[in-house]
Amino acid sequence: MIYEGQELPKHALVMVGLPARGKTYIARKIARYLSWLGYDTRTFNVGEYRRSQVGARQPASFFDPDDESTSGVREAIARRALDDMVGWLIGGGEVAIYDATNTEKSRRDAIWQRCHAVGIQVVFVESICEDERVVERNVRDNKLRSPDYADVAPEEAVRDFRQRIAFYERNYEPVDEPDRSYVKIIDEGRQVVVNRMAGYFSARLMFFLMNIHPARRKIWLTRHGESVFNTEERIGGDSDLSARGLSYARSLADHMLKQPKTDQLVVWTSTLKRAVQTATHLGIRPVARRALDEIDAGICDGMTYEEIKRDLPEEFSARRGDKFRYRYPRGESYADVIQRLEPIIVDLERQRHPILVVAHQAIIRALYGYLTGRPQEECPHVPIPLHTIVELTPTAYGYEEHRVELEPSLPDRSDAPLSMGPWPQG
Ligand code: SIN
Repeated sequence: MIYEGQELPKHALVMVGLPARGKTYIARKIARYLSWLGYDTRTFNVGEYRRSQVGARQPASFFDPDDESTSGVREAIARRALDDMVGWLIGGGEVAIYDATNTEKSRRDAIWQRCHAVGIQVVFVESICEDERVVERNVRDNKLRSPDYADVAPEEAVRDFRQRIAFYERNYEPVDEPDRSYVKIIDEGRQVVVNRMAGYFSARLMFFLMNIHPARRKIWLTRHGESVFNTEERIGGDSDLSARGLSYARSLADHMLKQPKTDQLVVWTSTLKRAVQTATHLGIRPVARRALDEIDAGICDGMTYEEIKRDLPEEFSARRGDKFRYRYPRGESYADVIQRLEPIIVDLERQRHPILVVAHQAIIRALYGYLTGRPQEECPHVPIPLHTIVELTPTAYGYEEHRVELEPSLPDRSDAPLSMGPWPQG
């Protein structure tokens, strides 16, 4: 990625913390966010290396720092993951996440020296959690489902995992290296401590880390109901809902008001009439956000795709050639849309209440791409039909998806085969 006219320096984000402190949760969120923003990002999880090299079922004693027969093996596994990470970064990767405990200063020093020698910038990301209830929840919700404890009785698994934590606690030295870049997330974001985080990339990362939390809440995404422009196959504009669109607005309200915790539901719409009208029956005052407005179709706004094909054939085929980067003359590309949605993503992460987003095809595609971890370039091709709610329920490390189709609508031409033209019906 070109960054302020120069190549982005290579970064290694090195996780730090005792087991069951949410490191993998944070690492996956960072990976999803940075990939969505276009950074070539990859995670190196030392637990996965261990499972593939010595098998998943290792007793707590395997992690005993005083057991020389296993500490050498663990050291070699961690080094192998580090070698792979450094090799990947040197070979062209941009941001690597080294997901391991790294609880000892000597280990962190070795990682830093190794990366520094080849020009990789290191940021330590430490998760500290003193709240026993949170640790217990992490152990029960995540660790018991890990392959490490497949077929082990829950109480035995908890006992073994607690023993593993105790072994790590023996030599734990929290990050306190004044010359190094680090972010410490304390008690799931109650406090965030930052050291030597300068520059745009670090600031972006820090801002994101200050807003994430593990509270679980549902997210619903929907396009607006069918608009008058949709019925005419025109793109863009700011038309009202059609009769079918109004009917969807009522069905959407009926459906949403049957969900649990609707008294806490937060509703965001774009500022365009068709999105605001779609949310009117919910009985909840929506927050209208300009950043959620549909992709700007520039000089094509208000045209049908048949007209664009006929009158602007070069634009038509340029978009077909690269739908992600294609920018409408005097308008936007999907890549531009992703950049403008970044503050929405940070606000979405910050929200602790269930949330419904009513917006437009390109916007919902981009948000969905982020939430489900799709590579950027897939976003313009994700099917998001009209009159369908995408319900995302949080799981340990991501979301489970369920789609509800509420009202029939006109066939969605934007998802038609390429020969018919890849134009949105925003
Ligand atoms: C693991 O083997 O699960 C993690 C090893 C480590 O990071 O210490």
